[in-house]
Parts: sequence; structure tokens; C-alpha cells
Amino acid sequence: MCGIVGIVGREAVADQVIEALRRLEYRGYDSAGIATLEHGRLERRRAEGKLANLRAKLERAPLSGSIGIGHTRWATHGRPNETNAHPHATARLAVVHNGIIENFRELKRELEADGVRFETETDTEVVAQLVSRNMDRGLGPVDAVAEALPRLRGAFALGFLFAGEPDLLIGARHGAPLAIGFGAGETYLGSDALALAPFTDAITYLEEGDWAILTREGAQIRDIHGAPVERPRQKIATQAYRVDKGNHRHFMAKEIHEQPEVVGRTLAHYVDLAAGRVVLPEPLPFDFARLSRLSITACGTAYYAGLVARYWFEQIARLPVEIDVASEARYREAPLERDGLTLVISQSGETADTLASMRYAKSQGQHTLSVVNVPTSTIARESSVVMPTLAGPEIGVASTKAFSCQLTVLLCLAIAAGRARGTIDAAEERRLVDALITVPGLMAEALTREGEIEILAREVSKARDVLYLGRGTSYPMALEGALKLKEISYIHAEGYAAGELKHGPIALIDESVPVIVIAPHDAVFEKTVSNMQEVAARGGRIVLIGDSKGAAEHGLDTLATVTMPDLDATVAPIVYAVPIQLVAYHTAVFMGKDVDQPRNLAKSVTVE
Ligand code: F6R
Repeated sequence: MCGIVGIVGREAVADQVIEALRRLEYRGYDSAGIATLEHGRLERRRAEGKLANLRAKLERAPLSGSIGIGHTRWATHGRPNETNAHPHATARLAVVHNGIIENFRELKRELEADGVRFETETDTEVVAQLVSRNMDRGLGPVDAVAEALPRLRGAFALGFLFAGEPDLLIGARHGAPLAIGFGAGETYLGSDALALAPFTDAITYLEEGDWAILTREGAQIRDIHGAPVERPRQKIATQAYRVDKGNHRHFMAKEIHEQPEVVGRTLAHYVDLAAGRVVLPEPLPFDFARLSRLSITACGTAYYAGLVARYWFEQIARLPVEIDVASEARYREAPLERDGLTLVISQSGETADTLASMRYAKSQGQHTLSVVNVPTSTIARESSVVMPTLAGPEIGVASTKAFSCQLTVLLCLAIAAGRARGTIDAAEERRLVDALITVPGLMAEALTREGEIEILAREVSKARDVLYLGRGTSYPMALEGALKLKEISYIHAEGYAAGELKHGPIALIDESVPVIVIAPHDAVFEKTVSNMQEVAARGGRIVLIGDSKGAAEHGLDTLATVTMPDLDATVAPIVYAVPIQLVAYHTAVFMGKDVDQPRNLAKSVTVE
């Protein structure tokens, strides 16, 4: 997490640095800071909290340097106050850092023994002090960094600015992404292309262990051994990196409302409408027909997309699925079959645990297939096959449109697997494709329920605890509903398999706990109604997210019923994502919470 930026420019760069930080704020917003060279001297402005606080500081005390670095922080080491805000500096240099320096204690002890005094609680300060000490010993900036980098352990990206060096920035990538942008007489460093899109469409991604020396004229890249290397320059479609809220109050609202469009776009990419067939990237390095199982790994919402997909792969393709959260999968040392397949799901494509579990699968001789939203990300680049979700940049920290696009791609993949394994015939494939094609329209219809969901959200906002229940594919949707609500409203929420209720959680039910039941009228609907009965019998207040048939049949008193359009049960999770997201969104808005940047969270989780 954390976002870093650096610019060697022609005129004052502070405004550009702030614009890039605005685009990186999704990576963390505990504090922000900037350093520039003012007549060769390092000057910093730093502020606790959101970028707006730093902006206000800069208005009071502007910076005019034409070279600078900036940072937006998601705190790992040290409280999120101004002292711990980046850039960290000595008299010689300033540094911005994303990631963790795992051996910072050891380095700190060594430096302290050498008489260095530390001012902050961060791991980053050791980098500043280490390079500075190298310079005290007579090394120039480039050699001082070259000497320090191999001493740092962990996953990180760094950007350095040096006093008295108005045409030099150094960037280093070791486990966390870093891109270089090329402009006319200006060169840029950034955590991602999104940050650099306002300035340039020419980007080079550093590879693992690379570091780069930036001047106004361009960049010289070196590999982990210090040898000069060439890395490809890519042209990015800057239009695709537009980030504004349109007519919406929040990015999250905009992204929820974009879903019919982006799911439609994703579908068009994977479905041949005329032929009624799913189309996958070709050639695939593995054969679905020969797989004995599929391993899926991901984190958070992406993991829940994987849980939904497990039902699809098992039911449609009769392919056994093993799924685990990436933070466990990577350490379990699970035996994985050589030539088997691991599927990883990630919006950012940079989540450290997901990346590590994918690398583990590769080390076991598995093929890796990634479903990612950022096509230039590390996971996309390192996997054997990439199936992009075409959701466009997702800025709201709570994942919405990326989730529904993940589900769309995963259902297409399960259908293709079924075809390859001979578990569905052409007619069944066409039936499923026809159901998929209805999804954008059904999502648009689901969005028309927003008014009633807004009213329901007022009730939800009074609760201290909320339970979500579901069966079949609605069970992972219950987990996702609870995650969405807790992360942006801070109301305690849990999702349960409806049938598990009586094995413990039912003890929590009383009239103060809303129980949100996700239940389209599918093959398990009646079973879920029995669980709703159990809740009603104990005074629980039920909210049903279902359809008109189910609403007519269950015969129970509910606090509210959100009636979704009738649909094919297979595609229900994609469409039901909409009301689940709207409940969380309106509850949080009603409570006055910061829905786009909820406390303690960041969008791109590049620490373990
Ligand atoms: C929740 C949310 C997170 C992410 C998780 C994985 O709304 O967004 O749970 O899903 O951090 O992130 P990615 O998909 O980028 O790997």
C-alpha cells in the first residue's frame, strides 16, 4: 500500500505531485507529504490525514521546486501522525517508500551504534539514514543507493531525492510496483500508471529488483546486480485512466451505477453472441478436460468471487475446486499437482498475499490463470494466462464493479470448462450464455430499487450487529454483503450459510439484529425459508433480498423486502451484487461515514 510519486520537471512540480497523489490516495490516506528542492535545499511539507490537509498546508507555505517526490501513506510502522509521514529525510536526501523493510530493527541498531539518531517510529527512516551514512562516507548518491539496496529485506518500492541534485531522482522496485513515465523534458516515477496518466502515455514498468536513475532527459535502468538493462516502453490509453465522480456524490456510487455498462463490456469480450459461445484467450497452456481439480486463491471480496465460482465450476464443469484465502494458501504448503491449474483473482493485481500464493503455485509446476482488473499489474504479468475484467479504474476502496466483473469472467470460464470437459452440450452452453446476456439489463433494473434500499438503510444504520444469510451461491454473497457493510459503515456484520445458523449464530438473534437474507427463488429457496422461520420465531427482523415469487411464497413478516427481477438462478450472484452494495453504501452515507475512504483501509494491499 502507500502511493509514491517523483517528478523531475521543468517548472514548479508541487501541483503535479499533488495531482498524482490524488490518484494514488486509494492506496492509503493516513498521511501525505511532499519534498522538493528549493535552491538546492530539501524542503518538506507533511500532514496527518487526507491529502486535503497537505493541500491546505501547501497553500499556506507553497513550494516552488522543479523536482520533487510525494507520498500518501497507509500506516504499517508507526502511528499515522505528521512525524511518521513521508518523505523521511536527512540533510542529504529525502525518501518515499511503499511496503515494509523487514530487517529495519537490525539496521536501526547498527546505525544507532554508529551515532545516528532516529526521529520517527517508521521502518522507512532507516533507508534514509543508511543511504545518508553511505554519502557521509564519501559515496555519490547513485553509489550510496546501490550499496544500500542489497541490505534491505522485504517487499518495497522507493523514491529518492537528493539535496544539491536538481536533475536526479532514484527509484527502486523490490516486491512493490513502480513505473517510470517519460514526458517532454520531464521524467516521472509512480506507483502505478494511474498516477502518471495526466502527464504522459509512455510508461516503463520496472521489473523485480530493478532500480532507475531519472533525469529530465529520461531514465537509466539497472537490474538487481547493477547492470544496465532495457525495459519495454508501453503506450497507455490515458483516457482509460480518467478518474472523476461524474454526477455522483462518491466514487462508490458511480462505480455501483457503472455496473450494467462494465459487465456488458466484459461480457462482450468473452462471449460470441451470435454463436452463443464463450470465447477464451488462445491457446491455453492447459486443458480443462485433463484437470483433476482447480485451486483458487484470492483475498477479501475477490475471494468471495472465487467462492461463488466454486459452485459454478463444480456444478457446470464437474471440476472439483479447492479454495483458500491467499494469506493462508501461501503458507499451507499444499501439495499441488504438476501441470494442474491455480486460478488467482485480484482487482489490483498487486495484492502481496495473492501474488505470493500464485508464485508458490508456479514453483509447484502449476499453470496460473489470473482474473485481474489492472492488466499491467504484477499478477497479470507473471501469470501464464490473463483474463482481464474490464471494469475500468476502481477508486472507491470497497470493491463493487470489479467484483461483478470478476463474477462475469468466472462464470464464462466455468462454462468454457464445462464445454471442454463435456459436462455441458452446445444447447446448455447457449442457454447459459443467453442467461449471461440478460445480466446488464437485470443489473440496470436492480438499480431502480435504490430508493427503497435507501429507506431500508435507515433501519440498518440503527443496528449494532447485522447478520447476512444465504444458501448455495447466495452464501458467499452473504459473506460479501457483511464485508461491504462492515468496511464502510463500521457496523458489525457477519455472513453465514443459512443452514449453519442453528449451529451457533442463532443465539445472537433478537429484535435488535436485522437479518438480511439473500434468497432468489432457486433450488434451495425452500430450505432458506425454513431458516427464515427459525429467525422469525426468535423475534428476528428479516430483510429479504429475493424475487416476487419468493416474496409471495414465504408468508413471513419482514422488516423489508427488496424485490429483484426474475432471472436464471445461475446468474443471480452477479445481479444480486447490486442491492447488497446499495444497502452498505446508503447505510454508510446515512451514518455520515467516508464511504470512498473508510478508516484503516487501503485499496491496494501490497503488504503481507
Ligand atoms: C473489499 C475489498 C477487499 C479486496 C481485497 C483484495 O471491498 O475491496 O477485500 O477485495 O483487498 O484486493 P485485490 O482484489 O486488489 O487483490
